[in-house]
Amino acid sequence: PDAYVVIGNPVGHSKSPYIHAAFAAQTSQQLQYGTLEAPLDEFAATVRKLMDSGARGANVTVPFKLEAFALADSMTARARAAGAVNTLLFQDGRILADNTDGIGLVTDIVQNAACSLRGKRVLMLGAGGAARGALLPLAEQAPAALVIANRTLARAQDLLAVLRSDAPDCVAAASTFADLQGPFDVIINATSASLHGELPPLPAGLMHAETLAYDMMYGAQETPFCRYAREQGAQTRDGLGMLVEQAAEAFYLWRQVRPQTTAVLAELRTMLQ
Ligand code: ATR
Repeated sequence: PDAYVVIGNPVGHSKSPYIHAAFAAQTSQQLQYGTLEAPLDEFAATVRKLMDSGARGANVTVPFKLEAFALADSMTARARAAGAVNTLLFQDGRILADNTDGIGLVTDIVQNAACSLRGKRVLMLGAGGAARGALLPLAEQAPAALVIANRTLARAQDLLAVLRSDAPDCVAAASTFADLQGPFDVIINATSASLHGELPPLPAGLMHAETLAYDMMYGAQETPFCRYAREQGAQTRDGLGMLVEQAAEAFYLWRQVRPQTTAVLAELRTMLQ
């Protein structure tokens, strides 16, 4: 069968093999999907070996998404805008690249959480790679405004410049946390603060009862950001759905078949506990 892997370091914890095996079974696609740990200084050589072995594609995870971007022979507009790549398709010895993280986030918000972004005031917290990967897909939903807030203002301004060139029609701004003027309809936490059990220093008044507060992180325990948002009376959602939807988009790119995600997401949720 056609072979795919997720390449990372470390990669043993990855849920992608489970997700793609579930998609393959559900759609009757004959494929195998495994993990591949690349040495930290040998990403490119590992990809070449993988291609030589006849594999059809790969997902790329931490810390190789920027190197995958550099290695690609061609890529989608959203991968270029993201400056990073999480999905590779091998075709005739060439590497076609995509970034499905941002569209995965948008699909989880719009379809799974049934929260349209059109005409909404959207706030992105953070200005690292995770934030950058989501900006163009968010802008394409035609929000009323897209504000990027970061601890280090200059990084938010850098992302704003990228967004303005990729999506000139999007009403966008950069801000510090302290200068934010709420409320927002959708707030996405793309900072790595949750990883350290921390919360970005947010001013009061950012959320109302209908606000969707979305944390790209997930875990068995509620993240600090979701907990804070719940205490503010907002709606909350963690990033497990984004994980499943970015995988579904990669699966679609490889197989031209769109898997159903609801049952896989529910099963992953029980596995987290
Ligand atoms: P990633 O690729 O996961 O986005 P990154 O590029 O290191 O990782 O970016 C991490 C983001 O989380 C940045 O926006 C960072 O803010 P700075 O640019 O000011 O460093 C943000 N971040 C990390 N810890 C934070 C904390 N405790 N509070 C607020 N923001 C935090």
